[in-house]
Amino acid sequence: MDTSIRNAPPSNAFKIVDVPDPYKELSALRGSAGTFVGSGELESPWIPFGENAAIRHFAFDVRNNIYSNILWIKGPGVIGTHYHRGRIVMLCLHGSARYLEYPWVAGPGDFIQEVPGEAHTLVSEHPEGTKLFGWMQGAIDFYDDKANFAFTADVWWFMNHYETYCKEHGIPINPQLYI
Ligand SMILES: [Fe+2]
Repeated sequence: MDTSIRNAPPSNAFKIVDVPDPYKELSALRGSAGTFVGSGELESPWIPFGENAAIRHFAFDVRNNIYSNILWIKGPGVIGTHYHRGRIVMLCLHGSARYLEYPWVAGPGDFIQEVPGEAHTLVSEHPEGTKLFGWMQGAIDFYDDKANFAFTADVWWFMNHYETYCKEHGIPINPQLYI
């Protein structure tokens, strides 16, 4: 069998390999480490987002206005109409969700991209709602049902959502959420 067409990595050794890095000292001094957020409530709690939803935060990057989380809509319901000023990628983990403006329905494993300039209304009609993992950038402007501006959610809004809840509930701030 010709394995070259698969272009697999050249080593499957179960060991740490010390690769050459010309900037090892510099990156240790000036770089920043990657992060890990486990699934426990202490590492990042589910925090209410309205009556029927909660958010579990994973990352806040203030230099790029990037934030990541899981949005959990707990049953059939609506997350208000919003306008994006940045880029969004989402993966549906559970249940299903759709936007009233588009023809598709996202189920587990389905991937979604959203771009600046889009306005849409997120709904779930699934009896168990949905869980959506998101990696998001830029401001999201929320509106009421008469198109009146309500508030902007950006990295600072999401960080404040996390930190306020942690302070109120005696949960230590997890430094792994800050990149
Ligand atoms: Fe959106």
